[in-house]
Amino acid sequence: MTQLSKQAVIDTLKEVIYFPKGDNIVNLGMLDALEVSDGKISFRLVFPKLDEPPVRIVGSTAEKMLRERFGNDISIEIVPITEKEKGLGPLAGVRNIIAVVSGKGGVGKSTVAANLAIAISKKGLSVGLIDADIYGPSVPVMFGVVDEMPEARERNGKPSIVPIERYGIKLLSIGFFVDVTKPLVWRGPMATSALNQLLGDADWGVLDYLVIDMPPGTGDIQLTLAQSYSVTGAIVVTTPQKVAFADVHRAANMFKQEKLTIPLLGLIENMAYFVPSDLPDRKYYIFGRSNGERFSEVLGVPFLGQIPIVDQIAASGDAGSPIALDDNHPVAKAFADVAEKVIESVKNS
Ligand SMILES: Nc1ncnc2c1ncn2[C@@H]1O[C@H](COP(=O)(O)OP(=O)(O)O)[C@@H](O)[C@H]1O
Ligand SMILES: [Mg+2]
Repeated sequence: MTQLSKQAVIDTLKEVIYFPKGDNIVNLGMLDALEVSDGKISFRLVFPKLDEPPVRIVGSTAEKMLRERFGNDISIEIVPITEKEKGLGPLAGVRNIIAVVSGKGGVGKSTVAANLAIAISKKGLSVGLIDADIYGPSVPVMFGVVDEMPEARERNGKPSIVPIERYGIKLLSIGFFVDVTKPLVWRGPMATSALNQLLGDADWGVLDYLVIDMPPGTGDIQLTLAQSYSVTGAIVVTTPQKVAFADVHRAANMFKQEKLTIPLLGLIENMAYFVPSDLPDRKYYIFGRSNGERFSEVLGVPFLGQIPIVDQIAASGDAGSPIALDDNHPVAKAFADVAEKVIESVKNS
């Protein structure tokens, strides 16, 4: 018999195939709330619907395989639930949802979200990126897909939006659907339904990480995300100035409120210091040296790292190929380090 452990259980369940989707239940993200303790295994299995034959078959196959591996003495509890009950719907295949938030606009939230998505994907993980910033969608420009229009495809009898794929990352932006040059007043219900379409009416498939570039501050989009979706955590982006942090503090406190809780995975200090392109070894701490670290102490969240001010960060974003793609650039290394810390804090969350 194999020693009972969470990993051993997951490995065993990877042999259980959900035939309608042609992959195993772990890869498909159907395994939920796995608890393994002395002689006891319990978990939920998330299905699109409960009244179909695979539900029973998958459940009994899983139980049989677990008994074969860990013996007949263990107690096994498997609870089938629907995607809807889990609040996931089409997001059942998405393992982690990460919201990138900020106190105000212009601090580099989109720059961080885009480069972080690329840095995570460079680690061999599958990544999607949603641009939910209704005030200034920037993903289409940053990924050079301004002229693309996502197609709709039939899925479970409903039309669903197929994300655009660029640099191996699945992308959707509010900018694909509205004319960003026209003024647009976003009333609450409109903002909410925009987010629901990007998250819930799209065909995200199986993803390790879905990164969401959120609008700055606090508003209807933040509320909807916290209340209707199961978000792994939020990453706060700030610049080193104290006035920027005052706004960040307010936004962070919103996520800490009861009922709204989205765990704060950590803080990224963008524009932490200036590196002139003709003197790449110089660092000028224009706004102070360790403000980011101090801010994260105040918030009580991990410090995920610093990104310098480098003109190529802006230029590469404008040119549609974010700097994290350029393995030789030191800033790509900085984003790789941040990505590592994010993955680490997700593991511990
Ligand atoms: N670290 C950086 N170095 C240089 N320019 C940056 C950096 N971060 C962001 N920028 C630039 O600053 C502007 C605002 O960044 P953006 O990511 O759009 O902010 P936000 O999404 O918070 O409004 C953009 O032109 C972007 O290219
Ligand atoms: Mg932005």
